[in-house]
Amino acid sequence: KASSEPVNVEEFKELAKLTLPKMYYDFYAGGAEDEHTLRENIQAFQRITIRPRVLVDVSQIDTSVTILGHHISAPILVAPTAAHKLAFYEGELATARAAAAAKTIMVLSYSSSCSIEEVASSCNAVRFFQLYVFKRRDISRQLVERAERFGYKAIVLTADAPRLGRREADIKNKMIAIPEKNLEGLITIDVSSDQGSKFETFANKTLDASLRWEDIEWLRSITTLPIIIKGILTREDATKAVEAGVDGIIVSNHGARQLDFAPATVSVLEEVVHAVKARVPVLLDGGVRRGTDVFKALALGAQAVLIGRPVLFGLAAKGEEGVRKVLEMLKNELETSMALSGCPCIKDITRSHVRTHYDKLH
Ligand code: FNR
Repeated sequence: KASSEPVNVEEFKELAKLTLPKMYYDFYAGGAEDEHTLRENIQAFQRITIRPRVLVDVSQIDTSVTILGHHISAPILVAPTAAHKLAFYEGELATARAAAAAKTIMVLSYSSSCSIEEVASSCNAVRFFQLYVFKRRDISRQLVERAERFGYKAIVLTADAPRLGRREADIKNKMIAIPEKNLEGLITIDVSSDQGSKFETFANKTLDASLRWEDIEWLRSITTLPIIIKGILTREDATKAVEAGVDGIIVSNHGARQLDFAPATVSVLEEVVHAVKARVPVLLDGGVRRGTDVFKALALGAQAVLIGRPVLFGLAAKGEEGVRKVLEMLKNELETSMALSGCPCIKDITRSHVRTHYDKLH
């Protein structure tokens, strides 16, 4: 009898669907409006092919990299995603332990269901903290200070959510407002009368839609941590981000949950990389489901990728072990693609190892 154990990360999605209440599964899996970008994030990777080289000594493969001074086992980080307790009772504590076991970095979401402090005390993974700027700046400031005090190593400022995208499944399901553990005791907002997605209403009542490039200076003034900006999709904004003095860029469309018809992230990666001119590291998230996807992103100039939904689906299916398996699978697949492409080390993966639809054939 064939094994029912997942053999790739997409199979965790099927298990998660069997496990989760529909409202939560839809919240995790869904994207904005027609979900065009959601499909494109995956399909854009599938349109890129790999140009393998043979007869290279690949008896030893090293997938490790250093990101902002942190040496990790593979260029695959955990993206910030909200509310892990909807997936598994231990929430982000389980995710953080899995990230530590995989020797990678976890980015804790602002909207986590375990607090900054709880996650810090539960594991020794390198942690970054993702920030949404709250209408009340004093609260954002407190969150940044708490993250710094509790050993988080960078602030990831999400720039693509001045308000929430229209996620129609959540509207239909009347998605609950998730408990915002990090805001406990700081604020109460009543969304009980809302008829659609309470999650969306809560976000729109709290997020500061007036945030501007000038505010990076404010963030810089309240923390000594490196600042990474998440949600860049154009050369124009990449240039502004570097000029604003950020320490890193994440090419992201928020897992296609914000602006539908935003481009697939991998399709604009090179544009951003060229604008940045190696002044700061460029990372990418969105649609990474295979080791070959990681390989392609690296070939196009990313230093690392982050994964969102596969972590949530691993967590829903099998708790901490599920997240560990997801991270392990992607790392193993990356190792295989490196061996089969003639790249023993990450630095051996170059632009000439991939072909995109916009490359010339000769
Ligand atoms: C997210 N994402 C996200 N991003 C962020 O900056 N703060 C957050 O709280 C969340 N929350 C969140 C919840 C859920 C359920 C998802 C699926 C995504 C976006 C996330 O960091 C990342 O950009 C995408 O998930 C990457 O795409 P994939 O890997 O899910 O395709």
